[in-house]
Amino acid sequence: MKEKENKMNSEKKKQKIFRTLGRCIGEYKKATLLTPIFVVMEVLLEVFIPLLMSQIVDVGMDSSLTEFAFNINIGSASFHIFTLYNRIEFIVTVGGLMALMAMLSLVFGVLAGKFAAISATGFGKNVRKGIFYKVQDFSFLNMDNYNTSSLVTRLTTDVTNVQNAYMMIIRILMRAPTMLILAILLAVSINGQLALIFLAVLPILIVGLSIIASLAFPRFNAMLKKYDDLNETTQEDLVGIRVVKSFVRSDHEINKFKNVSSMAQKMQLRAENLLCIAMPLMQFAMYACMVAIAWFGGNKIISGEMEVGSLMAFISYVTQILMSLMMLAFLFVMLVLSKASASRIVEVINEDIDIKDSENTEDFAVADGSVVFSNVDFSYNKKTDNLHLEGVNLEIKPGEKIGIIGGTGSAKSTLVQLIPRLYDVTNGEILVGGRDVREYKLETLRNAVAMVLQKNVLFSGTIKENLKWGNENATDEQIVEAAKAAQAHDFIMNFPKGYETDLGQGGVNVSGGQKQRLCIARALLKNPKIMILDDSTSAVDTATDSKIRQQFREGLDHITVFIIAQRVTSVSDADRIIVLDDGKISAVGTHKELLKSSEIYKEVYSLQQRGVK
Ligand SMILES: Nc1ncnc2c1ncn2[C@@H]1O[C@H](COP(=O)(O)OP(=O)(O)OP(=O)(O)O)[C@@H](O)[C@H]1O
Ligand SMILES: [Mg+2]
Repeated sequence: MKEKENKMNSEKKKQKIFRTLGRCIGEYKKATLLTPIFVVMEVLLEVFIPLLMSQIVDVGMDSSLTEFAFNINIGSASFHIFTLYNRIEFIVTVGGLMALMAMLSLVFGVLAGKFAAISATGFGKNVRKGIFYKVQDFSFLNMDNYNTSSLVTRLTTDVTNVQNAYMMIIRILMRAPTMLILAILLAVSINGQLALIFLAVLPILIVGLSIIASLAFPRFNAMLKKYDDLNETTQEDLVGIRVVKSFVRSDHEINKFKNVSSMAQKMQLRAENLLCIAMPLMQFAMYACMVAIAWFGGNKIISGEMEVGSLMAFISYVTQILMSLMMLAFLFVMLVLSKASASRIVEVINEDIDIKDSENTEDFAVADGSVVFSNVDFSYNKKTDNLHLEGVNLEIKPGEKIGIIGGTGSAKSTLVQLIPRLYDVTNGEILVGGRDVREYKLETLRNAVAMVLQKNVLFSGTIKENLKWGNENATDEQIVEAAKAAQAHDFIMNFPKGYETDLGQGGVNVSGGQKQRLCIARALLKNPKIMILDDSTSAVDTATDSKIRQQFREGLDHITVFIIAQRVTSVSDADRIIVLDDGKISAVGTHKELLKSSEIYKEVYSLQQRGVK
């Protein structure tokens, strides 16, 4: 029962892989269709060439003949094509025909290759695009399910695997069977008895190859997994190379790399070892066939049952048959190799996006910066028995300045991430501007709610380009104004190139505190109604920190601001402070009120004050 279910599931999965990847062919359908057509034409011509050759030998070179008839015999049927009375003329005509066919076959071969390349590279491009676009739509929750290095592997190695397999499919899937069938037919029609020889070898070969292939597949799968590990280790090391160096962990990293790298090599060796047997097996079968055919065929020629040219053509067909079998076996291996890659790609493309744009056709504007949490529960894994945020009720007026404080892991970031809908609530609702956040278009909501994330990044490019992320149409004056409010203008102007300073990848050219201020300026340029600073001034000195808050109070009094901080001084002048403890609101009030009412707040404050003194 269960087995049947599993089988059905894997069948469904396969269909899904084909359907999803099939969609990626997109605008390259024509090229994809043309490839097998040209391949078949190439093969047709190729297959008839040995037949022409046998005519030259058997008819053109037969000294007993005076008239030279060109007949094509297929089975018992004989087609008369033409008769010539001059030996040289006959040989030149048939030879010319052979050259013409070879040339045409070459042209079709080139065309097939060209269209295969167009459609395979196009297919690869579309698959890559599919993954990348999908990842752009990922919510934070979706992102939590994948690690970055795995996504990079999927976008690169896996796409290349699938693209190569696709190319093989459209070229070989038609070529090998067509050639196989035609060559077998023609060989049988030349001499049925001789054909029995390789028909006897064929099953042995097929069984041998299938055994090798079925043993090789699990080994190849294991090898691919090791390559995943290798990619992950390399990527992790490269991303964190500065940490590795500062902790002098190079030796440890080198050892780790050595291990996974040699593991990957070992697994590949194990897999390839099997395939090493395949080639000699093919060749052994081929030469055994040749010897047998030469022996029996030679006897037939001596007894006058067969002509030399026919035997030559026959041997050509045997070679073609074995070649196409080899290609099919190779294709089979490629397909299984790429199956792992294909399902990894399809997994991303078909990932359910959990935060979708509102289905309301109307694009509501965010009226004001008010925020209401009503009975909000939240769990990262959507389990109500494992809540990360529980029973939150809050009402925040437009323009209010809210401080949030609490120990690490008390769900401060979790609380504010629900406002711009980076995650959706598990229970309850959140209203922004008097409307449930799920009713807004995501873009509208996120434009109105600017958030400086705790783990923020800048991108390669100049300071100005980075700030323009907030608003691509911002004028120079607006940029300077935002930078001033975020206390970034002065240090920017201290750089020789000012706003044109190149930040390098991930903003490596600025200090931690400078980076934080640039992130705040970038968020300010959105001209938001709500601004969330998640620990965004932790690396900024207290004086500058206080100046930034002063700016928010005076210059930006219409914006609702949430400031998450570890330092009590960073929130003490807020209109209200929320104290979070283990996913619950423990107290809300002003600095003065909380000093009286909240034990936690009082303790944190006195501990921090002691540090100051
Ligand atoms: N993406 C995530 N997936 C699953 N659990 C998470 C995720 N992010 C946070 N958590 C868990 O949720 C809880 C609250 O985390 P949160 O990041 O909100 O804490 P925080 O108060 O912001 O801490 P910090 O002061 O260190 O920034 C923690 O127990 C954490 O382990
Ligand atoms: Mg946090």
